[in-house]
Amino acid sequence: MKALLLGLALIAPAAAFANQELAQKKNCMACHALDKKLVGPSYKDVAAKYAKEKDAYKKLAEKIQKGGSGVWGPMPMPANAVTPAEAETLAKWVLTIK
Ligand code: HEC
Repeated sequence: MKALLLGLALIAPAAAFANQELAQKKNCMACHALDKKLVGPSYKDVAAKYAKEKDAYKKLAEKIQKGGSGVWGPMPMPANAVTPAEAETLAKWVLTIK
């Protein structure tokens, strides 16, 4: 199964799926859902909030890595165990969710 997923990750049309796999693997989906608020904001709301902001992914990638609070409410996001490249991939993916 793992090999199959790795293989799929190399095929462009499967990219969105692969990114969601990464989010699941990194435990993001424990606090976030695509279209409803859980502990953190829904990814759809995040994408809408930053839709007009150029290079928003850079700011979000840093926050994904280091954690932070105060944008969506008092609940903080803890630092996540992701590499800078993974954080950037996840930030870009979140911004595509509608
Ligand atoms: C323990 C719960 C938790 C986990 C795990 C978590 N988040 Fe969050 N996330 C939050 C909370 C709470 C906020 C709102 C923080 C705030 O208001 O500034 C948030 C905010 C965000 C934001 C918006 C940041 C902003 O400044 O607008 C993004 C993007 C995000 N998370 C992505 C991720 C990704 C990707 C992962 C996995 C690597 C992840 N989160 C894991 C709780 C979590």
